[in-house]
Amino acid sequence: MRVLIDGIEVPEAEAGISVFDWGLLRGFGCFEVVRAYHGVLFRLGAHLDRLAGSAAVLGIQVPPRPALEGWARAVARAGGDCQVRILLTGGGRDPLVGAAARAVVLWEPLLPAPDVLRLLPLEAPWHPATDRSPFYAVKWLSYAANMASGDRARARGYDDALLITPGGLVLEGPTFSVAWVTGGHLETPALGLGILPSITRAVLLGEAAPRLGLSVVEGVFPLSRMLEADEALALSTVKEVTPVVAVGEHAVSRGPTSGALAAAFREIVIAETG
Ligand SMILES: Cc1ncc(COP(=O)(O)O)c(C=O)c1O
Repeated sequence: MRVLIDGIEVPEAEAGISVFDWGLLRGFGCFEVVRAYHGVLFRLGAHLDRLAGSAAVLGIQVPPRPALEGWARAVARAGGDCQVRILLTGGGRDPLVGAAARAVVLWEPLLPAPDVLRLLPLEAPWHPATDRSPFYAVKWLSYAANMASGDRARARGYDDALLITPGGLVLEGPTFSVAWVTGGHLETPALGLGILPSITRAVLLGEAAPRLGLSVVEGVFPLSRMLEADEALALSTVKEVTPVVAVGEHAVSRGPTSGALAAAFREIVIAETG
Protein backbone atom coordinates (compact mmCIF):
# COMPACT_ATOMS: atom_id res chain seq x y z
CA MET A 1 0.00 0.00 0.00
CA ARG A 2 1.82 3.11 -1.18
CA VAL A 3 -0.71 5.73 -2.16
CA LEU A 4 -4.10 6.51 -0.65
CA ILE A 5 -6.20 9.31 -2.11
CA ASP A 6 -9.12 10.20 0.15
CA GLY A 7 -8.49 6.87 1.83
CA ILE A 8 -8.70 4.78 -1.32
CA GLU A 9 -5.66 2.83 -2.43
CA VAL A 10 -4.57 3.81 -5.92
CA PRO A 11 -1.87 2.03 -7.95
CA GLU A 12 1.27 4.17 -7.98
CA ALA A 13 1.31 4.59 -11.76
CA GLU A 14 -2.28 5.85 -11.75
CA ALA A 15 -2.10 8.02 -8.64
CA GLY A 16 -2.67 11.66 -9.43
CA ILE A 17 -4.62 14.78 -8.66
CA SER A 18 -6.42 17.07 -11.08
CA VAL A 19 -4.20 19.49 -13.00
CA PHE A 20 -6.77 22.12 -12.00
CA ASP A 21 -6.12 21.53 -8.30
CA TRP A 22 -4.67 24.64 -6.66
CA GLY A 23 -2.32 22.36 -4.79
CA LEU A 24 -0.52 22.01 -8.12
CA LEU A 25 -1.35 25.33 -9.78
CA ARG A 26 -0.63 27.59 -6.84
CA GLY A 27 1.05 25.54 -4.13
CA PHE A 28 -2.20 25.99 -2.19
CA GLY A 29 -2.26 23.12 0.25
CA CYS A 30 -0.49 21.88 3.32
CA PHE A 31 1.44 18.80 4.29
CA GLU A 32 3.28 16.78 6.88
CA VAL A 33 6.06 14.22 6.66
CA VAL A 34 5.97 11.64 9.44
CA ARG A 35 8.77 9.16 10.07
CA ALA A 36 7.89 5.48 10.42
CA TYR A 37 10.26 3.17 12.27
CA HIS A 38 9.64 -0.45 11.20
CA GLY A 39 6.10 0.51 10.35
CA VAL A 40 5.32 2.53 13.49
CA LEU A 41 4.84 6.29 13.16
CA PHE A 42 6.67 8.65 15.53
CA ARG A 43 4.60 11.50 16.98
CA LEU A 44 1.74 11.17 14.52
CA GLY A 45 -0.49 13.16 16.88
CA ALA A 46 1.83 16.19 16.86
CA HIS A 47 2.06 16.06 13.07
CA LEU A 48 -1.72 15.89 12.69
CA ASP A 49 -2.14 18.80 15.12
CA ARG A 50 0.24 20.89 13.02
CA LEU A 51 -1.55 19.80 9.82
CA ALA A 52 -4.89 20.87 11.29
CA GLY A 53 -3.38 24.25 12.19
CA SER A 54 -1.98 24.73 8.68
CA ALA A 55 -5.30 23.73 7.10
CA ALA A 56 -7.25 26.08 9.36
CA VAL A 57 -5.11 29.06 8.32
CA LEU A 58 -5.59 28.23 4.65
CA GLY A 59 -9.28 27.36 5.03
CA ILE A 60 -8.78 23.82 3.76
CA GLN A 61 -11.04 21.09 5.07
CA VAL A 62 -9.40 18.27 7.00
CA PRO A 63 -10.76 14.71 6.86
CA PRO A 64 -11.92 13.36 10.22
CA ARG A 65 -8.93 12.72 12.47
CA PRO A 66 -9.57 8.97 12.97
CA ALA A 67 -9.67 8.52 9.20
CA LEU A 68 -6.39 10.38 8.65
CA GLU A 69 -4.75 8.44 11.48
CA GLY A 70 -5.94 5.15 10.01
CA TRP A 71 -4.70 6.01 6.52
CA ALA A 72 -1.29 7.13 7.78
CA ARG A 73 -0.91 4.04 9.98
CA ALA A 74 -1.89 1.68 7.17
CA VAL A 75 0.67 3.19 4.78
CA ALA A 76 3.36 3.11 7.49
CA ARG A 77 2.62 -0.51 8.44
CA ALA A 78 3.07 -1.56 4.84
CA GLY A 79 6.16 0.60 4.40
CA GLY A 80 8.39 -0.45 7.30
CA ASP A 81 11.23 2.06 7.72
CA CYS A 82 9.96 4.90 5.62
CA GLN A 83 8.43 8.32 5.70
CA VAL A 84 4.73 8.95 5.25
CA ARG A 85 3.70 12.15 3.51
CA ILE A 86 0.24 13.48 4.20
CA LEU A 87 -0.97 16.30 2.01
CA LEU A 88 -4.18 18.21 1.76
CA THR A 89 -4.72 20.07 -1.49
CA GLY A 90 -6.84 23.19 -1.91
CA GLY A 91 -8.79 21.71 -4.82
CA GLY A 92 -9.72 23.57 -8.02
CA ARG A 93 -11.30 26.91 -7.21
CA ASP A 94 -12.27 28.03 -10.72
CA PRO A 95 -15.97 27.11 -11.11
CA LEU A 96 -15.51 26.15 -14.76
CA VAL A 97 -12.81 23.61 -13.99
CA GLY A 98 -13.54 22.83 -10.36
CA ALA A 99 -11.74 19.91 -8.78
CA ALA A 100 -12.34 18.34 -5.40
CA ALA A 101 -9.76 18.98 -2.71
CA ARG A 102 -7.81 15.80 -2.02
CA ALA A 103 -6.19 14.15 0.96
CA VAL A 104 -3.18 12.21 -0.23
CA VAL A 105 -1.22 9.86 2.01
CA LEU A 106 1.83 8.30 0.48
CA TRP A 107 4.75 6.12 1.27
CA GLU A 108 8.23 7.47 0.58
CA PRO A 109 11.55 5.67 0.93
CA LEU A 110 14.19 7.03 3.28
CA LEU A 111 16.70 8.69 1.03
CA PRO A 112 20.36 8.25 1.81
CA ALA A 113 21.25 11.25 3.96
CA PRO A 114 24.69 12.64 4.78
CA ASP A 115 25.96 11.85 8.31
CA VAL A 116 27.06 15.45 8.73
CA LEU A 117 25.99 18.65 7.02
CA ARG A 118 27.81 21.60 5.55
CA LEU A 119 25.47 24.58 5.34
CA LEU A 120 25.68 27.74 3.28
CA PRO A 121 24.05 30.79 4.92
CA LEU A 122 21.67 32.45 2.46
CA GLU A 123 19.41 35.42 3.03
CA ALA A 124 15.70 34.56 2.99
CA PRO A 125 13.89 37.88 2.56
CA TRP A 126 10.60 36.02 1.92
CA HIS A 127 10.71 34.44 5.35
CA PRO A 128 8.10 35.94 7.70
CA ALA A 129 10.74 36.24 10.46
CA THR A 130 7.96 37.10 12.89
CA ASP A 131 5.11 35.23 14.52
CA ARG A 132 2.84 38.15 13.59
CA SER A 133 2.56 36.78 10.07
CA PRO A 134 -0.94 35.42 9.43
CA PHE A 135 0.82 32.41 7.95
CA TYR A 136 2.85 31.68 11.04
CA ALA A 137 3.50 27.95 11.54
CA VAL A 138 1.85 26.91 8.29
CA LYS A 139 3.55 24.00 6.59
CA TRP A 140 2.18 24.72 3.15
CA LEU A 141 2.97 23.30 -0.24
CA SER A 142 4.56 26.62 -1.30
CA TYR A 143 8.10 25.46 -0.60
CA ALA A 144 9.67 26.61 -3.87
CA ALA A 145 11.86 29.30 -2.28
CA ASN A 146 13.08 26.87 0.38
CA MET A 147 13.85 24.12 -2.11
CA ALA A 148 15.57 26.52 -4.54
CA SER A 149 17.75 27.78 -1.67
CA GLY A 150 18.88 24.23 -1.00
CA ASP A 151 19.71 23.78 -4.67
CA ARG A 152 21.72 27.01 -4.68
CA ALA A 153 23.73 25.82 -1.71
CA ARG A 154 24.34 22.43 -3.33
CA ALA A 155 25.46 24.14 -6.57
CA ARG A 156 28.16 25.78 -4.47
CA GLY A 157 29.32 22.50 -2.97
CA TYR A 158 27.37 22.56 0.31
CA ASP A 159 24.82 20.02 1.53
CA ASP A 160 22.07 22.55 2.16
CA ALA A 161 21.24 26.15 2.96
CA LEU A 162 20.98 27.92 6.29
CA LEU A 163 18.29 30.60 6.01
CA ILE A 164 19.09 33.92 7.64
CA THR A 165 17.24 37.24 7.65
CA PRO A 166 18.61 40.12 5.55
CA GLY A 167 19.76 41.49 8.92
CA GLY A 168 21.81 38.34 9.54
CA LEU A 169 19.67 36.56 12.14
CA VAL A 170 19.66 32.76 12.08
CA LEU A 171 16.28 31.26 11.15
CA GLU A 172 16.26 27.61 10.06
CA GLY A 173 17.18 25.34 7.17
CA PRO A 174 14.84 24.99 4.17
CA THR A 175 13.51 21.74 5.67
CA PHE A 176 15.03 21.59 9.14
CA SER A 177 15.57 23.51 12.35
CA VAL A 178 18.97 24.34 13.79
CA ALA A 179 20.45 24.47 17.27
CA TRP A 180 23.97 24.73 18.62
CA VAL A 181 25.93 24.02 21.76
CA THR A 182 27.75 26.91 23.33
CA GLY A 183 29.20 27.37 26.82
CA GLY A 184 27.61 24.11 28.01
CA HIS A 185 24.05 24.91 26.96
CA LEU A 186 21.91 24.53 23.87
CA GLU A 187 20.81 27.59 21.88
CA THR A 188 18.25 27.72 19.13
CA PRO A 189 16.30 30.38 17.22
CA ALA A 190 12.98 31.14 18.92
CA LEU A 191 9.69 30.14 17.31
CA GLY A 192 8.71 33.82 17.52
CA LEU A 193 11.00 34.35 14.51
CA GLY A 194 8.32 32.69 12.41
CA ILE A 195 10.26 29.45 11.93
CA LEU A 196 8.31 26.21 11.65
CA PRO A 197 7.44 24.68 15.03
CA SER A 198 9.50 21.57 14.33
CA ILE A 199 8.43 18.42 16.11
CA THR A 200 12.01 17.13 16.28
CA ARG A 201 13.10 20.45 17.80
CA ALA A 202 10.33 20.16 20.40
CA VAL A 203 11.42 16.62 21.32
CA LEU A 204 15.06 17.66 21.50
CA LEU A 205 14.46 20.77 23.61
CA GLY A 206 11.71 19.42 25.81
CA GLU A 207 12.78 15.80 26.28
CA ALA A 208 16.29 14.93 25.06
CA ALA A 209 18.20 17.96 26.40
CA PRO A 210 16.67 17.69 29.92
CA ARG A 211 17.76 14.02 30.04
CA LEU A 212 21.34 15.22 29.63
CA GLY A 213 20.86 18.06 32.10
CA LEU A 214 21.47 20.48 29.24
CA SER A 215 19.72 23.83 29.58
CA VAL A 216 18.16 25.42 26.52
CA VAL A 217 18.05 29.07 25.48
CA GLU A 218 15.62 30.06 22.72
CA GLY A 219 16.33 33.50 21.33
CA VAL A 220 17.15 35.81 18.47
CA PHE A 221 20.74 35.20 17.43
CA PRO A 222 23.05 36.68 14.81
CA LEU A 223 24.86 34.25 12.54
CA SER A 224 28.11 34.97 14.39
CA ARG A 225 26.65 33.22 17.44
CA MET A 226 26.29 29.96 15.49
CA LEU A 227 29.74 30.39 13.94
CA GLU A 228 31.29 30.68 17.40
CA ALA A 229 29.43 27.62 18.74
CA ASP A 230 31.21 24.52 20.00
CA GLU A 231 28.86 22.20 18.07
CA ALA A 232 25.85 22.65 15.80
CA LEU A 233 22.90 20.48 14.82
CA ALA A 234 20.26 20.18 12.12
CA LEU A 235 16.92 18.81 13.32
CA SER A 236 14.02 17.31 11.40
CA THR A 237 11.78 14.30 11.08
CA VAL A 238 13.89 13.11 8.17
CA LYS A 239 17.35 14.22 9.36
CA GLU A 240 16.62 13.45 13.02
CA VAL A 241 19.63 14.95 14.83
CA THR A 242 22.46 15.53 12.36
CA PRO A 243 25.71 17.32 13.23
CA VAL A 244 26.55 20.44 11.24
CA VAL A 245 30.28 20.57 10.55
CA ALA A 246 30.52 23.75 8.49
CA VAL A 247 28.59 27.00 8.18
CA GLY A 248 29.87 28.72 5.08
CA GLU A 249 33.66 28.62 5.17
CA HIS A 250 33.62 28.31 8.93
CA ALA A 251 34.28 24.80 10.30
CA VAL A 252 32.28 23.68 13.35
CA SER A 253 33.65 20.83 15.42
CA ARG A 254 31.77 17.59 15.89
CA GLY A 255 31.73 17.24 19.66
CA PRO A 256 30.33 14.83 22.23
CA THR A 257 27.10 16.71 23.01
CA SER A 258 25.71 16.24 19.48
CA GLY A 259 26.29 12.50 19.79
CA ALA A 260 24.69 12.39 23.24
CA LEU A 261 21.66 14.36 22.01
CA ALA A 262 21.29 12.12 18.96
CA ALA A 263 21.46 9.04 21.23
CA ALA A 264 18.89 10.51 23.64
CA PHE A 265 16.59 11.30 20.71
CA ARG A 266 16.97 7.72 19.47
CA GLU A 267 16.10 6.35 22.92
CA ILE A 268 12.91 8.41 22.93
CA VAL A 269 12.03 7.09 19.47
CA ILE A 270 12.71 3.49 20.44
CA ALA A 271 10.69 3.79 23.66
CA GLU A 272 7.75 4.97 21.59
CA THR A 273 8.00 2.86 18.45
CA GLY A 274 9.50 -0.30 19.94
C1 LIG B 1 11.14 24.92 7.25
C2 LIG B 1 11.23 23.73 8.15
N1 LIG B 1 11.78 23.87 9.37
C3 LIG B 1 11.89 22.82 10.21
C4 LIG B 1 11.45 21.55 9.84
C5 LIG B 1 11.58 20.39 10.79
O1 LIG B 1 10.31 20.03 11.27
P1 LIG B 1 10.01 18.58 11.84
O2 LIG B 1 10.99 18.34 12.94
O3 LIG B 1 8.61 18.66 12.37
O4 LIG B 1 10.19 17.61 10.73
C6 LIG B 1 10.88 21.38 8.59
C7 LIG B 1 10.41 20.05 8.18
O5 LIG B 1 10.06 19.81 7.06
C8 LIG B 1 10.75 22.49 7.72
O6 LIG B 1 10.20 22.36 6.51
